[in-house]
Amino acid sequence: MQELNDKIKQFGTVLPGNVLKVDAFLNHQVDPELMLHVGQEFARRFADEGITKIWTVESSGIAPAVMTGLAMKVPVIFARKHKSLTLNSNLYVADVYSYTKKTTNRISISKKYVAPDDKILMIDDFLANGQAVEGMLEIADQAGVHVAGAGIVIEKSFQPGGRELRDRGIRVESLARIKSLAANQIEFEED
Ligand code: G4P
Ligand code: NA
Ligand code: NA
Repeated sequence: MQELNDKIKQFGTVLPGNVLKVDAFLNHQVDPELMLHVGQEFARRFADEGITKIWTVESSGIAPAVMTGLAMKVPVIFARKHKSLTLNSNLYVADVYSYTKKTTNRISISKKYVAPDDKILMIDDFLANGQAVEGMLEIADQAGVHVAGAGIVIEKSFQPGGRELRDRGIRVESLARIKSLAANQIEFEED
């Protein structure tokens, strides 16, 4: 998506540990017009999948997920993160390990907002190791709902998450694909 790549070129910076900082439009300050276009693009790509719900994980996935829900006219659920969680039979839960932060979060979605015939589109801001998407897939499995795929704003294709998901037959659509952040240079995949 050209508009997104241009924003990344204009505002993105590289931090140690292969981290792309995009606080100017995605992870802290949010560019609503860009997010609307991101949502419209996901809606276009997944138009034929019969999506009934958007799932994401708080917090940075919420902005692109809400815009996708707006474009597709379906509700958006953000899984909540907890440091610890007592057993609650009204929740689906999964543990998500963050390689970047070296912590485990338990994510949860209330059973109240899951219907057996749901067709889920997962949305997230970044795809790196794929742990957040794996967590949502685990919850979908528990709930017995169909997952149509994942819409990712920025995929770091030099990390294994995207390949692992595609190898398992999950449809992954990424709007920007970063091939390398080596030597502080942002290198895009050609596509
Ligand atoms: P994953 O997102 O594929 O599971 O990989 P990883 O475990 O490495 O990511 C942990 C957290 O770091 C996630 O955010 C993820 O979105 C974020 N992240 C990974 N790589 C980058 C990067 O290059 N730049 C930025 N800005 N973020 C990155 P989170 O812990 O879920 O936090 P939140 O911001 O959504 O609250
Ligand atoms: Na995220
Ligand atoms: Na994040």
